[in-house]
Amino acid sequence: MLKLFTILAAAAVATASPITKREPGGLLLCTGANSTGTCQYNVYPLDSCINITTPFTGSTNTFAPDGEAFACYPYAMPCGSICTSPEGCTLGAIDFNYEHKYNLSAVSWAAVASFRCFTKNTITVVEEVRKRSQ
Ligand SMILES: *[C@@H]1O[C@H](CO)[C@@H](O)[C@H](O)[C@H]1NC(C)=O
Ligand SMILES: *[C@@H]1O[C@H](CO)[C@@H](O)[C@H](O)[C@H]1NC(C)=O
Ligand SMILES: *[C@@H]1O[C@H](CO)[C@@H](O)[C@H](O)[C@H]1NC(C)=O
Repeated sequence: MLKLFTILAAAAVATASPITKREPGGLLLCTGANSTGTCQYNVYPLDSCINITTPFTGSTNTFAPDGEAFACYPYAMPCGSICTSPEGCTLGAIDFNYEHKYNLSAVSWAAVASFRCFTKNTITVVEEVRKRSQ
């Protein structure tokens, strides 16, 4: 009996692990700073543009990616819009270590319109280095 229980428990762990394993793309959005206000956590598909929707429109103060090897670009305009700003219309790559992820108002970016998350690779590292040296 004990042995059967052990087998069943092992099977439950095996089937549960693909679901409970954290995937890249996990992102917490909250209307308030420091994870306050209305919050929504989702694992977003990578390399896909996601429009910010109600209630976060104009008030995305918490923008906090999980710790896996990915980052997200917040954009000032919705998906599909052409960027006409010479600054490039993104705040730059935000990852788990970004210092203002719990308060985008501190960098005047609470009005995020859309975002795109991507796996970190050598190209994005080069972009980050270039951005920081400007
Ligand atoms: C927000 O979090 C920061 C960092 O933990 C803390 O210093 C600050 O006091 C918090 N502010 C509020 C209003 O909770
Ligand atoms: C995002 O919003 C814009 C403007 O409302 C719309 O044209 C576009 O189809 C939306 N894209 C996605 C991926 O939701
Ligand atoms: C977030 O930043 C804004 C602008 O700098 C500041 O007024 C506000 O107190 C900050 N909120 C928290 C919770 O730290």
